[in-house]
Amino acid sequence: MSEATNSTQLDEVRIGGIGASRKRVEDARFIRGRGSYVDDITLPGMLHMEILRSPVAHARIKSIDTSKAWEIPGVRLVLTGEMAAQRNLAWMPTLSYDTQAVLATDKVRFQGQEVACVVADDPYIAKDGCEAIVVEYEPLPAVVNPRQAMAEDAPVIRDDKEGQTDNLCYSWEVGDKEATDRAFEQADVISRLSLHYPRSHPSPIENCGAVASFDQATENLTVYMTTQAPHIIRAAVALVAELPEHMIRIISPDIGGGFGNKVPVYPGYVCAILCSILLGKPVKWIEDKSGNLISTGFARDMYFDGELALRSDGRILGVRFHADTDQGAFFSDAQPSKFKIGLVHSAFACYDVPTGHITARGAYTNKAPGGVAYRCSFRVTEAMFFQERLMAAAAVDVGLDPAEFRRRNLVRDDQFPYRTPFGFLTDSGQYQKCLDLGLEAIGYDQFLEDKEEAAKRGRRLGIGISTMTEPLGAGNSREYDILGIKMFDSAELRVHPTGKAILRTGAKTQGQGHETTWAQIVAHELGIPAADVLVEEGDTDTAPFGMGTYASRSTPVAGAAVAMVSRKIRAKARKLAAHLLEVSEEDIEWELGRFYVRSAPARGVSIQECAAAAYGNMPDGMEPGLENNAYYDPPNLTWPFACYIVTVEVDPESGVWDVLRVVAVDDCGVRINPMIVEGQIMGGLTEAYAMSNMQFITFDADGNCVGSNYMDYLLPTAWETPGFELHEVTTPCPHHPLGAKGVGECAAVGGPAAFVNAVMDALSDTGVRNIDMPVLPDRVWEAIATGQDVS
Ligand code: CDP
Repeated sequence: MSEATNSTQLDEVRIGGIGASRKRVEDARFIRGRGSYVDDITLPGMLHMEILRSPVAHARIKSIDTSKAWEIPGVRLVLTGEMAAQRNLAWMPTLSYDTQAVLATDKVRFQGQEVACVVADDPYIAKDGCEAIVVEYEPLPAVVNPRQAMAEDAPVIRDDKEGQTDNLCYSWEVGDKEATDRAFEQADVISRLSLHYPRSHPSPIENCGAVASFDQATENLTVYMTTQAPHIIRAAVALVAELPEHMIRIISPDIGGGFGNKVPVYPGYVCAILCSILLGKPVKWIEDKSGNLISTGFARDMYFDGELALRSDGRILGVRFHADTDQGAFFSDAQPSKFKIGLVHSAFACYDVPTGHITARGAYTNKAPGGVAYRCSFRVTEAMFFQERLMAAAAVDVGLDPAEFRRRNLVRDDQFPYRTPFGFLTDSGQYQKCLDLGLEAIGYDQFLEDKEEAAKRGRRLGIGISTMTEPLGAGNSREYDILGIKMFDSAELRVHPTGKAILRTGAKTQGQGHETTWAQIVAHELGIPAADVLVEEGDTDTAPFGMGTYASRSTPVAGAAVAMVSRKIRAKARKLAAHLLEVSEEDIEWELGRFYVRSAPARGVSIQECAAAAYGNMPDGMEPGLENNAYYDPPNLTWPFACYIVTVEVDPESGVWDVLRVVAVDDCGVRINPMIVEGQIMGGLTEAYAMSNMQFITFDADGNCVGSNYMDYLLPTAWETPGFELHEVTTPCPHHPLGAKGVGECAAVGGPAAFVNAVMDALSDTGVRNIDMPVLPDRVWEAIATGQDVS
């Protein structure tokens, strides 16, 4: 029995608890090149699969001749849509209750769509097999944007769907139209803005891939695959392949970046599984870079028209906007009835806006499926971008400094919990404090003076602000589900007799550092050093059922489950402590890592001593062991807040703009690992910079993907990425057991508007209101030269 007293209480930071900037344990294998990714998996007798993709965006398939492919030595299987159809697998359901072609049968609907696949002894033979397949296409006119898709004479893309006579995917509205119309009638100033948030691609370093292994003797299916949500995949495979769950094992090993790209079920996964079932051998499919870039989940691609009703003193009276989203050929992102067009109505949640009205339509086009949650909760990034671009334009229209305009409208600390005009309940925040901290850090007043001075010498300086709160951590289960499964998450903790532990959760890390931070939560709750806690995720045979990692939901949901299961363990350990100390439970107090007798604090037992007792000295009648699980259903989303401020200088001769400084103030509640949080923010800001500055992927009139390689679609490197100055405010989340809010996506969501607002501010004397992203030098130059908006 330990004799420690209160004065020797464990130092939480020293044991790697909450607040410790603990080095990432997973990096020990990553930086040595010892990670284990799907492509590292090799099974005995494994074959290789390659996919033949459509070269055209819209065409009827007249014939597919596979005979030459079958003749190539080493080719084991050539799979077409027709063959898949015989097994009822030519189409699959999507997240949003739409259908998506696994292999095309009737038509191809986007460039890069999967038409056939070949399985061979090695990937090169499989590739040769794909090239030997002859497909005869009858071209059809292509539709490449949602407004073109809505035109009356537009060709119907989804003529496979019964009753579908146009390209409308969904139509949805929220808010109070009458009240909003009245607000606009009373407005002194109405500020309008139209813009396009262009398509972008998550572009993880690791492409998608799978190794499917169907054992014909046991009829068990094991799939190693790049997925952010293994349990959802298992449920989907069970439904589609009609196999019971206990015969399916999905293993998601190390993932080289997900960013939302690895949430959807792609045809390649289904084909690899089907081929393995047909051949009775393991089949590996590893997508190539262009395949990933042109055919897997795109993000964004949304057109906005909106306006703010303003009083002359700058108070917002109402907001209304319309959004047209380009869903691509198959609707595979958020289901509008569950996610309300992907939470676009979280817009303006940080401002005290009395009323608002949103309408939104989604359209099918001849592009790869779009709208994945690329480092955001579906369409939240677009919503926040439009919000902050409109706020910047409105500040100009109402004649107010943009910081002051925001200050007058931000929700005040005493207004929480605050109900937004679109129905969300934001729970906490110190928005003014974040803004003030950001302004002070950037030296706002001084910059305005410098800008004025510089202008006298023909230099164009600009400053851009973006403030936002966003909903992170779906569910709760009342409002959110995927395929009917509610959006809770889970954790299972086993404490071994020596006091070491293994923790498993239903989330799946893709680089965010869960192996490090989840152990810190256990350390915080139990006083077991974080180094003594092994964290495992991603194997459906061992991990408890969970909904996976996306939309920064891990900390708000799975992280909360980790806290809750630790508390269950502590409750049992308390009984063990009472037994060991020979007092009643009521006489026991807890301090980090130790129970002690209230009246005699020197008499105590450590959590490790309790663990040993759970296996070797439990009281009569107590079930042995020290393990438990917790399923956590969050009462609400968490609402982090951020203020990003960027300064730039624009070269009027070339349109090139350089970032001078970037200041970020993030409030994500209690930070479990401050270093990891900072890494998340820097990563998000890097992506925000890239989206605003350089990333351009688009489609020509025939639906050919322009920018479909990494020579054209630029990924930011350390060379061009600016430095970031990070600051923090901490407002604990009132309903999260640790007070934490999500943070992973904040900077990618709120950042882009700060960069664009800064460039627009540098052009404020030209009368230009908008340049669509990416704000490329030629666009800036054109805007300066013409004084017109550039889209
Ligand atoms: O769902 P995802 O892991 O992408 O996002 P997240 O929940 O925002 O967490 C990203 C990383 O930051 C994880 O390692 C978290 O544990 C960590 N984090 C933290 O240390 N403190 C917070 N308040 C939020 C996240």
